[in-house]
Amino acid sequence: MNIKMRRKAADVPQPAGNARHILTEATPFSVTEEYKMLRTAVSFAASVGSGSGKTVGVTSPLPSEGKSITCMNLAVAFAMTGAKVLLIDCDLRKPTVAQSLNRDSAPGISNILAGACGEKEALGQMDSGGVRFDVIPSGDIPPNPSELLGSERAVKLFASLSGSYDYVFVDLPPVLPVSDTVAVSKWMSGLVMVVRSGQTKRDEVKHALERLRFADANVIGFVLNGAQHTGARKKHYAYYRHAGE
Ligand SMILES: Nc1ncnc2c1ncn2[C@@H]1O[C@H](COP(=O)(O)OP(=O)(O)OP(=O)(O)O)[C@@H](O)[C@H]1O
Ligand SMILES: [Mg+2]
Repeated sequence: MNIKMRRKAADVPQPAGNARHILTEATPFSVTEEYKMLRTAVSFAASVGSGSGKTVGVTSPLPSEGKSITCMNLAVAFAMTGAKVLLIDCDLRKPTVAQSLNRDSAPGISNILAGACGEKEALGQMDSGGVRFDVIPSGDIPPNPSELLGSERAVKLFASLSGSYDYVFVDLPPVLPVSDTVAVSKWMSGLVMVVRSGQTKRDEVKHALERLRFADANVIGFVLNGAQHTGARKKHYAYYRHAGE
């Protein structure tokens, strides 16, 4: 997929990190199908929430479980349907979205929340082989991510953004090491919890869910990332189950 961004700093696009996992026409059919199933499940689950646009956060118990890949591909999968989509990188400690989409990471959400720039300055538009969606990168790494994300300014900003889009997908930090995700969960329509096959432990999921439920977060379901499908002998990226199952 040909990925272009406005306001690109580097001269030559360098596909790096998660860029190679972003859905394209070249993505194997089975993987694309998994994301379409995830899209359907999320659209039903998120519609239970209130508000005009749906704000869906993607998190996991611990680092490196596939949050950012899942979040970016959710944005792509929904944008494919013609939905108006915004992707925000709220992992202010370890941002990866900007690098994966080959753009500058600042100005971004941290700069907006700090009052250092407006929404328009931080907003970029992705054109990924004709699939279009908007992106707000993380911005400069702040000293106080939890306070910034849990602030009154953040609540207002996300309420206003969700009114301008059909879906806002938010890449979040892991739940257990830091409190950022718990702090922002109050302004999410729903949270998707990624667990990585062969890596995430049952207790870690349990503790992460306890923390989120204590904060009244609406966990709408799980993605099992990297699962081996029995019989198919192929690695798949995503498999979705509703939180209630
Ligand atoms: N299903 C998969 N198959 C192959 N590689 C994967 C898969 N899922 C994740 N990865 C790789 O694992 C690493 C972590 O993925 P990703 O950045 O999406 O996780 P994360 O949960 O957002 O991590 P962090 O906590 O650091 O933000 C990346 O290098 C990514 O390319
Ligand atoms: Mg990440």
